[in-house]
Amino acid sequence: MAKTTATAPGKIILFGEHAVVYGRPAIAVPLAQVRATAEIDDSAKKGIRLYAPDLGRDYWLREANEKDPFAQAVRVVARAADLKRMPDLTVTVRSSIPIASGLGSGAAMAAAVIRAMAKHLEFSELATDGQVSDLTYQVETLLHGTPSGIDNTVVAYEKPVFFIREQPRNKIETFSVFQPLRFLVADTGVVSTTKKVVGDVRRRWQENPEQFERIFDNCGRIAMAARVEIEDGNVSEIGRLMVENQFYLKEMTVSSLELEQLIGVAMSAGAMGAKLSGAGRGGNMIALVDAMQEEEVKNALLSAGVNHVLTSVLA
Ligand code: PMV
Repeated sequence: MAKTTATAPGKIILFGEHAVVYGRPAIAVPLAQVRATAEIDDSAKKGIRLYAPDLGRDYWLREANEKDPFAQAVRVVARAADLKRMPDLTVTVRSSIPIASGLGSGAAMAAAVIRAMAKHLEFSELATDGQVSDLTYQVETLLHGTPSGIDNTVVAYEKPVFFIREQPRNKIETFSVFQPLRFLVADTGVVSTTKKVVGDVRRRWQENPEQFERIFDNCGRIAMAARVEIEDGNVSEIGRLMVENQFYLKEMTVSSLELEQLIGVAMSAGAMGAKLSGAGRGGNMIALVDAMQEEEVKNALLSAGVNHVLTSVLA
């Protein structure tokens, strides 16, 4: 019996989260150490079985509701392939990406399932990075209503991107990195749902459009400047821009005590910059370190109670 697997990485947003939903540029990179893996097996039993052992879920596609992201990942492929009859399959998804922590776990799981399904059904035109990204976006809209498109783009292309949400097509640019940059990724342990935080920012923006437009403009300017500094290798300036971006994220009300505490710990231990990454109000913070300081900052974060600290190198 045939078996097909596909994987997708986690991601971190270096600059511009939230503002990216409102058309400002943002920079995100894949986080390859944590991944979602989907496996498709032909089955002798009728129907499509959805199996997510990490989440303790085992059920049939026909029983899943319209808001179920796992089921929707399978359905968007079936719809795009214009399948007249669903094949009999077991779809298994596993992931080492912490959920609800700003690392793009939902997008990665959907992208892995979509790519594995497209390959298994031999619809190679649906397994291209561009198609996987577009279909993942469709699933993401279920998860949080108004996604910018940056998560699905990074996990499907698995490349650093400078991203602008635009109609009719988003602007997706790659960029060069003058010298490798090391980021530590530390989890506050506080779960936070992207949909809720994004919805709250939208309400606040509607109530105070001038204040929020100004904040978003500043985040966009910072992301644009950061791209130039990454291309030129001005590491200390990149760190300074992270601190500035964090100031505006705080003003947006998406930081938290736990995030501020870890940012403080990282900066005191010698990080060149630190900020939250993703939706905020919990989840992960990232700190820019040089090779000399890395161990010290990492140990300080572990002493402050962080369970795991990952290192992501942008090269
Ligand atoms: O929390 P995450 O990993 O889903 O990241 C969300 C990023 C936002 O900019 C807050 C939302 C978006 O759609 O870009």
